[in-house]
Amino acid sequence: MLARLANEIEQHGWISFSRYLQLVLHEPGLGYYAGDRAKFGRAGDFVTAPELGKLFGRTLARQLRQIGGPVLEVGAGSGALAQTLLDELSCEYFILETSAELRERQRARLGKRVQFLDTLPERWAGTVIANEVVDAMPVHAVAWTERGVMERGVSFRDGKLVWAEKPASGDLLEEARAIKVPTPYQSEINLAARGWMRTLGQRLAEGAIFVIDYGFPRHEYYHPQRAMGTLMCHYRHQAHGDPFLHPGEQDVTAHVDFSALADAARDAGLEILGYATQAQFLVNCGITDVLGEANIENALHYAPLAAEANKLLSPVEMGELFKVLAVGRRVARPLLGFARGDRSNTL
Ligand SMILES: C[S@@+](CC[C@H](N)C(=O)[O-])C[C@H]1O[C@@H](n2cnc3c(N)ncnc32)[C@H](O)[C@@H]1O
Repeated sequence: MLARLANEIEQHGWISFSRYLQLVLHEPGLGYYAGDRAKFGRAGDFVTAPELGKLFGRTLARQLRQIGGPVLEVGAGSGALAQTLLDELSCEYFILETSAELRERQRARLGKRVQFLDTLPERWAGTVIANEVVDAMPVHAVAWTERGVMERGVSFRDGKLVWAEKPASGDLLEEARAIKVPTPYQSEINLAARGWMRTLGQRLAEGAIFVIDYGFPRHEYYHPQRAMGTLMCHYRHQAHGDPFLHPGEQDVTAHVDFSALADAARDAGLEILGYATQAQFLVNCGITDVLGEANIENALHYAPLAAEANKLLSPVEMGELFKVLAVGRRVARPLLGFARGDRSNTL
């Protein structure tokens, strides 16, 4: 991975941070998501909601049942969510996965129950789910300085990867100028996520897109106190802030600017169907009823379920930081998951 990076940086003298992330996360055969590391779960680097157990998927299934139709899951990881949803719903299930290695894992786990797509479909009618996918899309790194807006990229010095700045230009500069922050300030802008939502939105003939991830609306994302941005790296369950450590072997993510996703969806002619914290969404969908179906007398069975619910709902775990954004076209409202506590007006 380092040789590949050194080679590309030598050719150009500098690469953008988004190009760096594209390589270290997604480069076939070398990138973090393309490699054969465990990634998810206890043996991996982080745990996502579907990896905790079935509670998240069984609760989300209630929302999907209300809408009906086929499901397209983008970035399906180990296939855990797909498996739970398929057990709950009898529907056609499609997966769009960029990592060939993860696609093989999903195929081994799910077999003929799912169909794999290579690209976003030209036209889609149904539901789309992306759980912790947008945070894995390559962001640009930006510094707002006294000298103007700079793009932070990557250079190579004394055999080491280092940050190096250039004046920002084009779409990035335009987006950065629209964000009001004090100087000096640095943060991330996810142009890839906007493009993804715009394209998906244009191709959605009917149905809803659910983006579930950690992040904030714009005024919180680019809050004066978040002056060092939101980059986060995960290596064997340790979170730290150095994206140049273990290139290709650690996950590097940024929080999601949900206002930017909502704007991109509106640009594509979609409606905002709801925006809520994960805790509020799961409670609205009836997570307590799903829990209630378990045998409370059997502590061996119930204790892990209660721990799972706590992790999903607690404000100090995933409950508040994770949000659910739903956008769509020709969908009957209100959606179950946003019946109470909808915060769309904060986007
Ligand atoms: C952090 S993992 C989350 C996996 C799973 N959704 C979960 O919740 O456990 C990110 C997943 O998204 C995939 N991915 C990243 N960018 C993608 C994109 N643009 N299109 C499709 N899949 C993508 C990765 O390969 C991986 O499967």
